[in-house]
Amino acid sequence: MKIWIINGPNLNLLGTREPDIYGTETLESINRDIQRYLIKHGHLYDFFQSNSEGALIDKIQEALDEHVDGIVINPAAYTHYSYALHDALKAVSIPTVEVHLSAVHAREAFRKESVIAPACIGQISGFGSTGYLLGIQALEHLLSKEKKK
Ligand code: DQA
Repeated sequence: MKIWIINGPNLNLLGTREPDIYGTETLESINRDIQRYLIKHGHLYDFFQSNSEGALIDKIQEALDEHVDGIVINPAAYTHYSYALHDALKAVSIPTVEVHLSAVHAREAFRKESVIAPACIGQISGFGSTGYLLGIQALEHLLSKEKKK
């Protein structure tokens, strides 16, 4: 399978950004662990992080041309208000799992709403960096079931 891992704004600061909430692992070290899993399971992959909404949308659109099978995305704060990211995911119609490191439903009221979730197959929140691996496993499960049909 071809799986892309996409991260939104401020996630490049993981490690030093509010460590009590997001932990002390850097995005680089999280991606290294994810990469190990993806290689072990024979997947093709790409990692992308941007602080800019347009760059994230361009990457999602590119996933269509690149015949990506599944996306794991942490849209960060765009989760709560980016209709443009929602529309991009709807447009490409690639199975996507929304991931959050923190338990967004247990935090401020504005974090409880995701405008991205309706464009995704599911949401994983509150399991720290393990959430990305759980997201990949959800895609593996879904896509292997689809293959058997
Ligand atoms: C986040 C949660 C968002 O509310 C926040 O804006 C982030 C990170 C998370 O991974 O927990 O930047 O997506």
